[in-house]
Amino acid sequence: MNKTRLGIVGCGDIANDIGRVSRLNRKIKITACVDTNKSKAEQFSKRFRVPRVYTDYQELLNTAELDIVYLAVPHHLHFAMVKEAMEKKLDVLCEKPVTVTTKEAFELCKIAERQLVKIGVNYQYRYDKACYAIAKAAHKGELGIIYYIRCNIPWFRENTYFTESSWRAGKRQSGGGTLITQASHFLDAALWVADSAPAIVTGTSRNRKFKDIEVEDLFMGTVETENGCLIQLCSSMIASPERVPTIEVYGSKATAIYEGHFFPKARFFNRKIKKEKPPVGGIHALAASLEAYRRWIKEDLVYDMPIQKSLEVLATVEALYKAAESGKTEKVDRKYRDYL
Ligand SMILES: NC(=O)c1ccc[n+]([C@@H]2O[C@H](COP(=O)([O-])OP(=O)(O)OC[C@H]3O[C@@H](n4cnc5c(N)ncnc54)[C@H](O)[C@@H]3O)[C@@H](O)[C@H]2O)c1
Repeated sequence: MNKTRLGIVGCGDIANDIGRVSRLNRKIKITACVDTNKSKAEQFSKRFRVPRVYTDYQELLNTAELDIVYLAVPHHLHFAMVKEAMEKKLDVLCEKPVTVTTKEAFELCKIAERQLVKIGVNYQYRYDKACYAIAKAAHKGELGIIYYIRCNIPWFRENTYFTESSWRAGKRQSGGGTLITQASHFLDAALWVADSAPAIVTGTSRNRKFKDIEVEDLFMGTVETENGCLIQLCSSMIASPERVPTIEVYGSKATAIYEGHFFPKARFFNRKIKKEKPPVGGIHALAASLEAYRRWIKEDLVYDMPIQKSLEVLATVEALYKAAESGKTEKVDRKYRDYL
């Protein structure tokens, strides 16, 4: 069997998780990796037995002979690096957010269409068993009208989170803090469950603990969708001790509660609901998302987060930051719908 050749770009935290789940996938082989930090690239190659190691991305693109480029670098580099890969007609699974701004993401969508390449964005909760069960129950009407959804992300980060990867502390490099980096996964899941476009938002952003970084460590916001569903977000990097994230969905017929991270659970109250399984399984949502992307590339099966679909959550994040700055209710710019 010809294995799908995966090239890892950026050998940091999440790339190591992808390395671990790739090991369990017999259809995938990591054949190359690159990091500008030579020792990280070498350690990664040793850990996951990667034959070709690079410190230069262009060189990897030109010589590594890849089926998939997996991009896990600081956010502000995504735009140029996805673009460069697309120019060489390579398919890219990019870590979220695909870019820091919707304007950049729109440009990538146009290039992807022109170059006939497949760009996926790793919002892997689309392949999380518990999230999937709740979204499908909602879409089938089993929860009734979805009145409101509450997402709580009480996570904790040490100082080293910012000192070891300083890009995370810079506004230009990261585009923001806990909202864009952590909460955007749950916001994506909530919008998916609500199955209605985001309309207006309010937001409050604070630095309660990490005072000398440019991005927020705490964000609270609301999103109202066009069908009137209210989504409340509370995202933190400072909850001590941290707890698992939850998504509470309150419908006219039933309530659904998602609780998870490594061992996600979906519970339904008021009704017995048969839990639908995602079309692609795996030990973890990351494994399933990677395999689903592989199937898109190799077998042309549906992948649930192509770049176009990821624009909705990016546009909502942009509006939430705008609202936090203006102190007013802001509209979500609808321009992203031109690309759907
Ligand atoms: N899907 C998820 O659950 C999840 C979880 C964590 C992070 N992420 C995303 O993954 C991405 C990376 O985050 P991280 O936490 O792994 O960051 P990190 O800082 O741990 O790793 C980034 C790596 O990129 C390398 N790098 C920087 N510039 C480079 C370049 N030009 N060429 C090659 N390598 C370069 C750095 O040396 C570093 O090793 C971000 O987009 C982040 O939001 C996703």
